[in-house]
Amino acid sequence: MKILVTGGTGYIGSHTVLELLEAGMEVAVVDNLCNSSEESLKRVEQITGKKAVFYPVDIRDEDGMRDVFLKEQPYAVIHFAGLKAVGESVEIPLKYYDNNIGGTLTLLHIMKEVGCKNIVFSSSATVYGNPASVPIREDFPTSATNPYGRTKLMIENILRDLYRSDDSWNIILLRYFNPIGAHESGMIGEDPAGIPNNLLPYVAKVAVGKLEKVHVFGNDYNTPDGTGVRDYIHVVDLAKGHIKAIEKIVKTEEAENGKAGALGLKVYNLGTGNGYSVLDIVAAFSKACGKELPYVIDPRRAGDIDMCYADPALAKEELGWSAEYDLDRMCADTWRWQSRNPDGYATK
Ligand code: NAD
Ligand code: UFG
Repeated sequence: MKILVTGGTGYIGSHTVLELLEAGMEVAVVDNLCNSSEESLKRVEQITGKKAVFYPVDIRDEDGMRDVFLKEQPYAVIHFAGLKAVGESVEIPLKYYDNNIGGTLTLLHIMKEVGCKNIVFSSSATVYGNPASVPIREDFPTSATNPYGRTKLMIENILRDLYRSDDSWNIILLRYFNPIGAHESGMIGEDPAGIPNNLLPYVAKVAVGKLEKVHVFGNDYNTPDGTGVRDYIHVVDLAKGHIKAIEKIVKTEEAENGKAGALGLKVYNLGTGNGYSVLDIVAAFSKACGKELPYVIDPRRAGDIDMCYADPALAKEELGWSAEYDLDRMCADTWRWQSRNPDGYATK
C-alpha cells in the first residue's frame, strides 16, 4: 500500500514517514522544502534501511501534483504541508491563505480528478480557540483567533463540504495538541529556522548554549503555578496516530466489502490528556540535560490562553491509539536530538 505524504520532510512529516516505512508501507513525499531539508529523509533511510520516494514539488503546482499522483497512484494522502507560525500569519496573512488554503484546494482537485479519495489532515487544537473548559472534546465549539488558525478551520470546513457533496471520500481530521520530542535515534527532530517561537525548541536551544535564557510568557494565568498549561505529546506517538488513522480507513472499507467512503468523515484529538505548565517544562528539561536552565518571567504573549489539554478518549476508542511516552521521555529525546545536532540538519 502506498501513502503520499505532503510536507513529509518537515518535523511531524519525517517522523510519520519513518513510522509508515516501519509499518511496511510504501511512501512518496511531496515537499517544496520551504521550511525543511531533504536531509531528514536521508536520515530516515539510514534509520529504517528503507527509502521514501521524494518529489520537490509545491502542492500549489497543479501539473506537478498531477504528475506525482499519476506516477505513484497512492491509496491515501497524509496532508502535512502548510505554513504554521502564528505570529507570521498575522504579519503576512495572504501568504498563509495562498499556501495553506490554495495548496489544499489544488491537492483536493487533483485527488478528485485521479480518484484518490482518502485523506488524513493535520489540524490543530488551535481550532478550539479559548475553550470554556478542559479537557477538550472533539464536539467542543470551534473558533480561530489568527490567520493560521483560520486556515486550519477553513480547511476542516472545506473537507466537510467536500464530504457532503460526495460520500465516497474517507476524511480524518487529526487535531494535534503540542508536539515535542524526537525519534529515539537522535537523528531526526525539530529544526526551526531562526529563533524558535515555540517553547520546547526554545528551551532546547538554551540548554545547548545557543540562547541565553528561557522567557516565560506570564505567571499570572489561572493555572496552578500561574504559567500556561499545554498538552505536550511525543512526536513519535503523534506519528503512530497517523498509521492508526490509515489502518482505520483500510479496515472499515474491508469490513464493508470495499465500499468507498465506508468510514466517512471523522475528527480525533491527538493529545495525552495531561497538562503541564511552562515551569514544569523548564524543570523536566533541566533534569533531561543535567543542568538548571535559567529563566525570566516576561509579560504574557498576545493571544495565549491559560490552559489547553485534550480528552483523547475518542481516538483510543475508535482508532485504538493512545500516547505512550511521558514528559521525561519527551525531554530526553528532544535533548538527544538537540545535543547531537546543535545546528539541526546543518550540523556537520
Ligand atoms: P513543518 O514546517 O516542519 O512541516 C511542514 C512541511 O510542509 C515543511 O517541510 C514545508 O517545507 C512543507 N510545505 C509548506 N508549504 C508547502 C507547499 N506549498 N508545498 C509543499 N510543501 C510545503 O511543520 P510541522 O510541525 O511538521 O507541522 C506539520 C503540519 O502539522 C502543519 O500543517 C501544521 O500546521 C500542523 N500542526 C503542527 C503543530 C505543531 O505544533 N508543530 C500543531 C498542530 C498542527
Ligand atoms: N511559552 C513561553 N516562552 C516561549 C514560548 C512559549 O513561555 O518562549 C509558553 C506559551 O505562553 C504557552 C506555552 O509556552 O503557554 C506553549 O507555547 P508554544 O508556542 O510552544 O505553543 P502554543 O500552545 O502557543 O501553540 C502551539 C502551536 C500552534 C498550535 C497549538 C496547538 O504553535 O500552532 O500549539 O496545537 F495550534
